[in-house]
Amino acid sequence: MNVSNDKVLRIGMAGLGVVGQGVWKHLDSHRGPLEERLGARLELYCAAVRDPSRARAVEIRPDQFRRDPVEVATDAEVDLFCELMGGTDVALKATLAALEAGKMVVTANKALICEHGEAIFAAAARNDARLYFEASVAGGIPIIKALREGLVANRFPLIYGILNGTCNYILTRMEAERQGFETIVADARRLGYVEADEALDLDGWDAAHKAVILAYLAHGHWFSLDEMPVRGIREVTLDDMDWADRLGYRIKLVAMVRRDFKTDKVFCCVEPMLLRKDLVLAKVDGVYNGVSVLGDVVGESIYIGRGAGQDATASAVISDIVDAAIDRLHGVPAFMPTFVSGRVAFAPLDEVRRAYYLRLSVVDRPGVLAEVSTITARHGVSIESVLQTPGREEDRAHLVLTTHESSEKQVRDVVADLREDRAVLDPPLVLPMPDLNGR
Ligand code: NDP
Ligand code: HSE
Repeated sequence: MNVSNDKVLRIGMAGLGVVGQGVWKHLDSHRGPLEERLGARLELYCAAVRDPSRARAVEIRPDQFRRDPVEVATDAEVDLFCELMGGTDVALKATLAALEAGKMVVTANKALICEHGEAIFAAAARNDARLYFEASVAGGIPIIKALREGLVANRFPLIYGILNGTCNYILTRMEAERQGFETIVADARRLGYVEADEALDLDGWDAAHKAVILAYLAHGHWFSLDEMPVRGIREVTLDDMDWADRLGYRIKLVAMVRRDFKTDKVFCCVEPMLLRKDLVLAKVDGVYNGVSVLGDVVGESIYIGRGAGQDATASAVISDIVDAAIDRLHGVPAFMPTFVSGRVAFAPLDEVRRAYYLRLSVVDRPGVLAEVSTITARHGVSIESVLQTPGREEDRAHLVLTTHESSEKQVRDVVADLREDRAVLDPPLVLPMPDLNGR
């Protein structure tokens, strides 16, 4: 196909940091084949940044810099606004301004989509504009396209995955090198893996943003972070990894979206979980992400790849830019609308049933195990196995219990009572052990 000079898609970017520079660099280096296939030019027109004097690893002329993202979003010369700043304040203003101006918008900003998705999609629909957000979940893995296009024939009883590369990197290295959390997290910071707001990664919020987006794509409903259990990896110790190993499991930070199609209740959560070692996702290590999607027609499909970093994320952003260019050139809708919302509700805690791992630090004296089992029995929680090892300090022992399937509410009640028990020395650690083969 010839590249026509009057067919030009002008791209205005906001953000030329890790991801923005990746997009600029790879669009420049792959321009020839992309333009040839599209039959149109992709022009990197301008980029808004906070500090234009900062050194960048891409070639950009001084006159291409802007300071105001909203100016880029509303510039009449810009066809496509590419939001790669992060944050939910200026990014929201600029994204809405671009959509109100009828522009196509590409974003990698999962926090923005999670927290303001409803308003943003409404603005897109109102203005016959389009929003593309492939890079917002699992970096370079095309999971959004998979759910919206390749798997469109399916309903999704279960989606679960490792969605935060930084946490997966930390857990993998802790386990492999027998180092504590603080040591490895310091390395992750040095390597630039940990977000400036560390809670996003380490306390599970980044994975939760991504889980909310997956839940929207799979079920057409925007769940609120407030209703989801969200926990990060700070409490997981090397001892927990060893016990998990003895039980035949590995500990991963898992985001899960499970729907019961009989009741239309959906449970979404992000928690460190014990995954059976033979599961594919239990073997996804380092900064890699993995997502397992159970479709009622196709069965299980699994996606693994680099979930973060400049190149992987740029790959996803560029795929959105190309989709936008195709839509612009041919006027063909890029994707199926999501499912109709309003049919599903968040699952109450007593309907969420799983087996659990409970790690307790207790006074090392006779009768303590009986006290603990009295509490579990009081709430109808049945113990499947018990491991006990002496603690590192005198008069202290570690008890590791695994339970038969119990409800989340029962287990929370057990933990509340254990915290009141004088024989229990520290807050217990509870990790789900989901039955993923039996679904
Ligand atoms: P960076 O912090 O590296 O870059 C942010 C860029 O935005 C910088 O160029 C900065 O300007 C610019 N910027 C920030 N605020 C403003 C503002 N108010 N006005 C103008 N420019 C502004 O972030 P990343 O590239 O890592 O992330 C960008 C987005 O991509 C985020 O939403 C992130 O969640 C998402 N993402 C990131 C991934 C990754 O691996 N890094 C993976 C997947 C998604 P200046 O350079 O002058 O400071
Ligand atoms: N902080 C995120 C992660 C970046 O570690 O996965 C990619 O979204």
